[in-house]
Amino acid sequence: MAGPPPSLLRSALRLLFHLLPFAQSRSPSPPLLPGPAASFSVRDFGAAGDGRCYDTAAIQDAIDACHAHAAAAAAAPGCTCRVAFPPGKYLTATVRLKSGVVLDIQNGATVLGGTEIRDYPPESERWYVILAEGARDVGITGDGAVDGQGLRFVRRFDEKKNMMVSWNKTGACLGDECRPRLIGFLGCTNVRVWNISLNQPAYWCLHIVRCLNTFIHDVSIYGDFNTPNNDGIDIDGSNCTVITRCMIDTGDDAICTKTYTGPLYNLTATDCWIRTKSLAIKLGSQSWFDFRGLVFDNITIVDSHRGLGVQIRDGGSVNDITFSNIKITSRYYDPSWWGRAEPIYITTCPRKRWSKEGTVSNICFINITATSENGVFLSGSEGGLLRNLRFSNVNVTYKRWTSYEGGLVDYRPGCQGLVNHSMAGIIMEHIKGLEIKNVNMRWAEEQSRQWDNLLDFRPSTVNGISFHDFRSDLYSR
Ligand SMILES: *[C@@H]1O[C@H](CO)[C@@H](O)[C@H](O)[C@H]1NC(C)=O
Ligand SMILES: *[C@@H]1O[C@H](CO)[C@@H](O)[C@H](O)[C@H]1NC(C)=O
Ligand SMILES: *[C@@H]1O[C@H](CO)[C@@H](O)[C@H](O)[C@H]1NC(C)=O
Ligand SMILES: *[C@@H]1O[C@H](CO)[C@@H](O)[C@H](O)[C@H]1NC(C)=O
Ligand SMILES: *[C@@H]1O[C@H](CO)[C@@H](O)[C@H](O)[C@H]1NC(C)=O
Ligand SMILES: *[C@@H]1O[C@H](CO)[C@@H](O)[C@H](O)[C@H]1NC(C)=O
Ligand SMILES: *[C@@H]1O[C@H](CO)[C@@H](O)[C@H](O)[C@H]1NC(C)=O
Ligand SMILES: *[C@@H]1O[C@H](CO)[C@@H](O)[C@H](O)[C@H]1NC(C)=O
Repeated sequence: MAGPPPSLLRSALRLLFHLLPFAQSRSPSPPLLPGPAASFSVRDFGAAGDGRCYDTAAIQDAIDACHAHAAAAAAAPGCTCRVAFPPGKYLTATVRLKSGVVLDIQNGATVLGGTEIRDYPPESERWYVILAEGARDVGITGDGAVDGQGLRFVRRFDEKKNMMVSWNKTGACLGDECRPRLIGFLGCTNVRVWNISLNQPAYWCLHIVRCLNTFIHDVSIYGDFNTPNNDGIDIDGSNCTVITRCMIDTGDDAICTKTYTGPLYNLTATDCWIRTKSLAIKLGSQSWFDFRGLVFDNITIVDSHRGLGVQIRDGGSVNDITFSNIKITSRYYDPSWWGRAEPIYITTCPRKRWSKEGTVSNICFINITATSENGVFLSGSEGGLLRNLRFSNVNVTYKRWTSYEGGLVDYRPGCQGLVNHSMAGIIMEHIKGLEIKNVNMRWAEEQSRQWDNLLDFRPSTVNGISFHDFRSDLYSR
């Protein structure tokens, strides 16, 4: 059922390497323009790299020259030109990345995003430090860093959740959602971001919107743990995306797929390490169109508020998703952050009374090990059932190590909000078809009285469950 068979995963990845123009091993026909790719240094265009003067014009001039060079060489499809950033700190307002250009931010170089509203275009949907729109064959690499100076956007530091500045001047965005993102690829084809650190985004970090063929690998993302909305990678309405060997340590959602601008097909994320005060891997909540063919494999999630999550609110449907070989520890944090320590969390419900109900079908969890302060939460809605869920080789250890109160289920955003509820190993609502195969639950004996039920469901809303090799044991330390 869900997704391509796991044995195909590696070969699918290899295939994608071949299809992308950046592939290490190119197609047999030799490139039309041999010789080293052109490189333009921002220093030669007048960048100071002192971290104080704005280098915006120099960087943009280098990109424009590089773009013109790549366009002249357009006979070689996918031929790119590099803009080099030697060691130094390059303060910049928004720069536009153009077709055929790869930013080569070298070891010891940092691109610093401006912290003034005048550093960004008038329209808030273009508030990015680096923005590529409608471009082809573009990328960012080089062992250096892009830094959004997110801490400069904190109005009041708070261990629970920082209060952030708001650029709510135009009314186009509201409250704490009014800050610039770090990097955006909008409507691009053949995007590659690799071997780079992305640090302290003021808002979302790496945003991929309506793109085709995106390859993100060997990327480290660090965001402040107490800052809201500093998501790691947000992929919206894009097809054929590969994310691999990434390390994401941030306050808000780490890898987040959305269908706000269009459907999202064929994404794989593998070999990543994640820590977040929010959801590590998420589908939603913006979910107007369909999600199909997503594979998440070999991922380690530590100390996160939630592990794997599907959060459908706007009527889109989710199909053929596989989560495999994943290790999770999930714990409570302050309830001002969405999440109640669920290792696995699937909800679909209408955001507003008038929203459409989305459905979730063919989701497979295989080889999952979790240690968690709360149980699994699976909740559809009356007209938006969860269908054909499969859990296979799943071990969950239930124990408590923080002092936050339990006994709440979290339907946010929208729907019923936070609701008092008894505690259970798995809570199930509005499901048709659930197979539980080789699932082991282990409970810390001295804390076992905190749990009301092993499983919690009503036959009137949950239909067609089967159990094979199901165990539940107490353990003592
Ligand atoms: C699950 O784990 C088993 C044992 O380690 C392994 O043989 C199998 O290939 C894994 N399944 C997937 C889908 O990765
Ligand atoms: C946004 O700005 C408008 C106009 O300045 C103000 O009325 C409103 O309260 C602000 N909203 C938030 C959530 O900051
Ligand atoms: C990217 O970084 C990885 C790990 O740091 C390193 O092994 C690899 O050689 C780098 N690749 C390139 C193309 O620089
Ligand atoms: C992704 O594929 C779907 C289905 O073919 C298509 O409707 C959509 O326009 C594609 N999106 C992009 C950005 O290519
Ligand atoms: C997604 O992958 C499937 C299976 O490889 C393929 O048949 C389909 O055309 C792809 N869809 C898009 C929109 O890339
Ligand atoms: C899983 O990912 C880690 C990096 O997080 C990597 O070191 C390891 O080799 C991967 N395992 C497999 C089986 O690919
Ligand atoms: C689950 O626990 C059993 C028994 O300890 C062990 O044999 C199995 O490998 C574990 N599976 C996973 C996916 O952690
Ligand atoms: C849950 O119950 C407690 C005690 O009965 C009450 O104080 C609290 O307001 C309730 N919370 C919600 C979200 O209903």
